[in-house]
Amino acid sequence: MSISMKDEILKRILAADGEAVSGQELADSLGVSRTAIWKHMQTLQEEGYTFETIKKKGYVLTGVPNSLSPTQIELFLNTKQFGREIHYFDVVDSTQTIAHKLAQEGAPQGTVIIGEEQTAGRGRMARMWESANGTGIWMTIIVRPDVTPQQASSYTLVVAVAVTMAIKTLYKQIEPAIKWPNDLLINGKKCTGILTEMQAEADMVQALLVGIGINANQVASDFSPDIANIATSLRLEASEEINRAALVATILQYLEQFTELYVKEGFISIKALWEQMSCTIGQYIEVTTIRERFEGIASGITEDGVLQLTQDDGTIRTIYAGDIKII
Ligand code: BTN
Repeated sequence: MSISMKDEILKRILAADGEAVSGQELADSLGVSRTAIWKHMQTLQEEGYTFETIKKKGYVLTGVPNSLSPTQIELFLNTKQFGREIHYFDVVDSTQTIAHKLAQEGAPQGTVIIGEEQTAGRGRMARMWESANGTGIWMTIIVRPDVTPQQASSYTLVVAVAVTMAIKTLYKQIEPAIKWPNDLLINGKKCTGILTEMQAEADMVQALLVGIGINANQVASDFSPDIANIATSLRLEASEEINRAALVATILQYLEQFTELYVKEGFISIKALWEQMSCTIGQYIEVTTIRERFEGIASGITEDGVLQLTQDDGTIRTIYAGDIKII
């Protein structure tokens, strides 16, 4: 897709990373008049960008619009396939529902569905997921890995690694930890949840619907009393406003990269990274599955991403799905 003059100007100002960019230099290097640059700057301001104009130096970017529109995301996007088709909505019931439908209709790998607000956001184990307007990142990515349905269960851990890497890359002052299977916590509070659903035949995955919910720009009073003590946002932890579009693009970048590796070499290629980022391994935990409850030390994950629990009597139990609590 060809990039417009306005977007090219914006890209250069973003790349300057807080330094001033001279209007004259922009005009010279892009082969347009100074007035044309000024007009594009006006349009960018109307779209919600804010600039400071420093005499004799040029424009400094001071704010970006709070939107996850495809145009915003594309500015930061460096992928081949992931995020190249984005379905963007103001309000949806759940991005998962739309993803299921699009996947059935044949949407290609890497298709992304984003809602600024979800009215029926879903979490794991049939819980609801708070998805207020404009504050978080509520998105589903359609992935079509060439793996069996059994192998695919470990993919959700790959997603957790990709999201953690993206957050760490953009916000060096925070370091999320992964709580098995794929919650991201900062200082013990949850900032991200991942819900992976599958469309499959007996021995073949048709599509994985990877739902990612990130508390990005919420302030403490935005959370309902139900989750106020257990939830946090990246903004609260990083003490700065989160550029959601840049974060989405960075997640897609890592996810594309790790998905390629995962399909080629299996979960084993990402296992060490997951373990490094996890706050679960080595802890004494309580596991609740749909039917049972166990206790023991989370001693590791297998090459297939299954959790191993060493119980008090020394026996090892493998946990495929469930909720854990560090006790
Ligand atoms: C969890 O931790 O329980 C998983 C939460 C997943 C939430 C995301 S938000 C985008 C996508 N759409 C949904 O309805 N749920 C996922």
